[in-house]
Amino acid sequence: MSRVFEALQQLHVRASAEAPMDTDPVGESCQLLPDFGGEIMQLDAVRQFVLSSAPAKRLVARSEPHTLAAEKLRGLAARLRQTRSSRECKRILTASAVRADGKSMMSANLAITFASQGERTLLIDGDLHKPTLHPLLGIDSRRGLTDWTEDPSSITDYLVREQRMPLWVLPAGSPVDQPLAKVQLPATRELIGRLSTWFDWIIIDSPPMVPLADSNVWSTMCDFVLLVVREGVTPKRALLKTLDSIERAKLFAVILNDAVSNESKYYKQYYASDTDRTGNGNSK
Ligand SMILES: Nc1ncnc2c1ncn2[C@@H]1O[C@H](COP(=O)(O)OP(=O)(O)O)[C@@H](O)[C@H]1O
Ligand SMILES: [Mg+2]
Repeated sequence: MSRVFEALQQLHVRASAEAPMDTDPVGESCQLLPDFGGEIMQLDAVRQFVLSSAPAKRLVARSEPHTLAAEKLRGLAARLRQTRSSRECKRILTASAVRADGKSMMSANLAITFASQGERTLLIDGDLHKPTLHPLLGIDSRRGLTDWTEDPSSITDYLVREQRMPLWVLPAGSPVDQPLAKVQLPATRELIGRLSTWFDWIIIDSPPMVPLADSNVWSTMCDFVLLVVREGVTPKRALLKTLDSIERAKLFAVILNDAVSNESKYYKQYYASDTDRTGNGNSK
């Protein structure tokens, strides 16, 4: 058994979709701020970008929709959607113990999965230390959240929109000396509350939880946390420390990235037989 699985077992971690309803983390008052009407109208007019479909980017939800990985993402999206019948579920934080676990890749793919199904989705680069979403997605500038905090007039000036799907992105913004201080600003919390009324989903990517505190602050603004664990990358001690710091009622799922699974074989067999029946290679 792998070290990662052992660590998870040790803590009896399981997805907590049935967790009891808790209070709205951003508060009703944020949703009643004035001056929305004009700004939300501008959403469709923001600067556009074209999402890369290069396989090297690993945006499988876009480039390889007929793979098991893309199917798993659709399954995760469906579970998140179902959760809405019992509790607030819109703001999703992607977190992990250390760098390179796959948080950014997962955040981008989940956002693409929702947007591909026609749901208005906002992806926020909440890693203000070392943001990677803008190059990953093919956005030519990192101008975004930190710049908005310096000039909090209209957030739509800092959003970009994918050309073909309802996917908006708020990049991390220009480098700042104290990224955590920007996340902790009351204005940032208010912004998340305001944006929640504009979109069906908000996915927030975050920096590693060991040793940074940013994810914990972001999680107070989110309904759920997705914890990404990567076989061969996530150290067991860092994972245990991370699990300790996540509020259990908010832990929606632990996502095993890069894990070897037999399911892949069955998935391929299943679709191969479908292809045989239809006589062409294009079927799902
Ligand atoms: N399952 C995977 N297989 C191969 N490479 C991966 C996988 N998941 C992530 N990567 C690669 O690992 C690197 C780090 O991923 P990233 O999502 O940026 O991690 P994080 O945001 O947690 O630091 C990227 O180059 C990404 O393409
Ligand atoms: Mg990242």
